[in-house]
Amino acid sequence: RSAPPATLVIFGASGDLTRRKLLPAIESLARHNRLPDQFALVGVARTPMSDEQFADSALGGRSLSEKRQLAGGIRYVSGGYDDPETYKRLAETLDELDAQRGTSGNRLFYLSTPANAFEPVICGLAGAGLNHANEGSFARLVIEKPYGRDVATAHELDGVVHAAFEESSVFRIDHYLGKDTVQNVLALRFANSIFQPIWDRSWVDHVQITVAETLGVGTRGGFYESAGAMRDIVQNHVLQVLALSLMEPPASFGGEGLRSEKVKLLQAIRLPTDRDIADAAVRGQYTRGGTREELMAGYREEIGVDPLSRTETYAALRLNVDNWRWAGVPFYVRTGKRLPARVTEVALQFQRPPHLPIPTNQLTELDADALILRIQPNEGISLRFGAKVPGHTFRVRTASMEFSYDQTFVEESPEAYERLLLDALIGDASLFIRSDEVEHSWRIVDPIIEHWANDRSPIPTYEAASWGPTDADRLIGRNGRKWRNSA
Ligand code: BG6
Repeated sequence: RSAPPATLVIFGASGDLTRRKLLPAIESLARHNRLPDQFALVGVARTPMSDEQFADSALGGRSLSEKRQLAGGIRYVSGGYDDPETYKRLAETLDELDAQRGTSGNRLFYLSTPANAFEPVICGLAGAGLNHANEGSFARLVIEKPYGRDVATAHELDGVVHAAFEESSVFRIDHYLGKDTVQNVLALRFANSIFQPIWDRSWVDHVQITVAETLGVGTRGGFYESAGAMRDIVQNHVLQVLALSLMEPPASFGGEGLRSEKVKLLQAIRLPTDRDIADAAVRGQYTRGGTREELMAGYREEIGVDPLSRTETYAALRLNVDNWRWAGVPFYVRTGKRLPARVTEVALQFQRPPHLPIPTNQLTELDADALILRIQPNEGISLRFGAKVPGHTFRVRTASMEFSYDQTFVEESPEAYERLLLDALIGDASLFIRSDEVEHSWRIVDPIIEHWANDRSPIPTYEAASWGPTDADRLIGRNGRKWRNSA
């Protein structure tokens, strides 16, 4: 797969995401020959910079001759996002590049700015007519998160977007969908026949989805204050992984098949009422903790954070999916910053056998069977089951069958952004979030966020490098269940 002739325009070109993720992704696509000679890159941002300086930052480790060849297609336009002059200069630059580089009038506009610039940029593009492509060419919009901060603002943003671009030209990013291991949830479920029969309420006792991070908020305190774990991770990454894990099989991954099934699943998630929330949602905020060698600051001590902040850095929920396949099965999801391990996984725990022909004192080391999809790190899958312990007595202990990406494949995993950028250039939107999907995700988290905003009781805390507030253990423990890895 390789991209067609096109110019990629990055708004927010001097920002952190551009430097950390987008430029390396472009560099890697070029290195793997997935970009044609007729490719150009334009950075747009307020920070003044020359074409050469931007090219230098974009081309990092490349050889001089490579740089010369590529740099001709790299431009930088500096200006305010609400200044029509910026878009006039951008339009001239794009026309020049079409003439010099043969980029055929194809444009991919990537919004990697803070969210408050989304509207001015889209209006600026429309004002200069850049939202419309010439006959036979494309003008597409890629938008980073956060896409709104609740259902109402997401809807408003959609209004702005749709006034300028058709939905089919809009690519809303959730970088989790670019991860091979997240796509592997689809491979496991739908490219095999052995898992599908056990993937339902008859066999599954419950499911746990964990997105745990060891990092704190770092330098993003200012941003995080207005987000919190629910908006930053649950509304997007967690619900996406959940939807892929629980949705019905689509007839095809192409076209709208995948996205429509995800939407149906999101619609089937029972919306929490005020009473449910008290019982089924737990928040927390990290306080100072760690070891004597590595003492970590509490959230309220981080740069850009209000010393009396009530923003949650941890969230755990119990969700229900009201459909034929999943009725009665609880889904426990949790995410947090400053937890003891970086781990993202989906764990299906199966029911205990209906009858055990073994005395229970010979089963003390036997956990319930589980299938664990390790999204990151240590990417792979474990199947945990009981096996006979060698010896004269019939004891059964939990054993594990392991699949590891590292040991099984020689192929390299592309970075999530690399995969998604290429998809957007090619025009394949199946791994991007559709408008109705964003809306349904907000509908699930909004009532919880609102409930917490109105709850004036002190926010539960957890020490940095611990597994979250004790309330979270109570949330899952009511039915004798336990979080995995929380020992
Ligand atoms: C981002 C969040 O979307 O995802 C960050 O804004 C978080 O707070 C990051 O750290 C996690 O991504 P990954 O790919 O490192 O799991």
